[in-house]
Amino acid sequence: MTTASAPGKIILCGEHAVVYGQPALAVPVAQVQATASVEPAPEGIWIDACDLGRRYRLDDASADDPLAAAIRLTLANLQLPVSHYALQITLTSSIPTASGLGSGAAVCTALVRALAAHVQSPLSNPEVSSIVFETEKLLHGTPSGIDNTVVAYGQPVYFVKGQPPVPLAVLHPFHLLIADTGIPSPTKATVGEVRAAWQKEPERYAQMFRAIGDIAREARVLLETGQPPGLRFVERLGVLMDRNHALLQQLGVSCPELDRLAESAHAAGAAGAKLSGGGRGGNMLALVAPETEAAVRAALERAGAKRVIGTYVGQ
Ligand code: PMV
Repeated sequence: MTTASAPGKIILCGEHAVVYGQPALAVPVAQVQATASVEPAPEGIWIDACDLGRRYRLDDASADDPLAAAIRLTLANLQLPVSHYALQITLTSSIPTASGLGSGAAVCTALVRALAAHVQSPLSNPEVSSIVFETEKLLHGTPSGIDNTVVAYGQPVYFVKGQPPVPLAVLHPFHLLIADTGIPSPTKATVGEVRAAWQKEPERYAQMFRAIGDIAREARVLLETGQPPGLRFVERLGVLMDRNHALLQQLGVSCPELDRLAESAHAAGAAGAKLSGGGRGGNMLALVAPETEAAVRAALERAGAKRVIGTYVGQ
């Protein structure tokens, strides 16, 4: 049996604007993982999506099934005929779905890696990322490519749509709490709504996208060079996260539950807080220091977080 895993991810800043060509920063979250295993089967290719409670044949998968697409694209990329293989492919994941943690990209990344390893033709990170990008299109419609990139590379990245990702060297590691509203929110829906709003008021939205892009550029400099004069690193990063959240509210992708989590994190001493990913549900990030972590975690739980994951960025 061959197995492979891939991490979840969060977007530190720049979501939505990244679809319109602005930069964004994303980091993997190793605390949640998707795993794929591939083993010989008596006949055909079988997909066992354990968490979804579904087991089906590749031949019976619908045309827009991302798992089936990942299998077909991987074998096509390696110039191997699907009909030669009899395999059981089993997928499990601890990443909540439709919550901005990149579960779809992680499951497909693990699958592509496990399958390529099983046929003894491991693929490079850019190859894996570009296959998973195709599966993301089936899930999200018009993805920027940030999810497949950060998950396939497995390291913090500065990402601009259509360009090779720039690995981010994080000078000062920092600690985030990731709080789940428990509200599933498919990215496709919020991306579509932002697009419709942008089409109605292109200039107003373009200005907000640019302002979000400026935050991502500033955050990149801050992460790579450390402390600017004046405010401490964590405070400065917190300010950028807060500004980003305010702009995401203006874009219309926050919701009362995300705002409540962000406010309670602040009240308990977080240096910054913002939603992460598509929005309208899913997860929120709070930037904490060792002395504020316990209080912020407790406040998030009191404010309704369904689960709180701690992660260090840059370690
Ligand atoms: O998959 P999510 O919910 O983390 O969203 C990805 C980020 C978006 O900018 C909202 C969409 C995209 O394709 O970049």
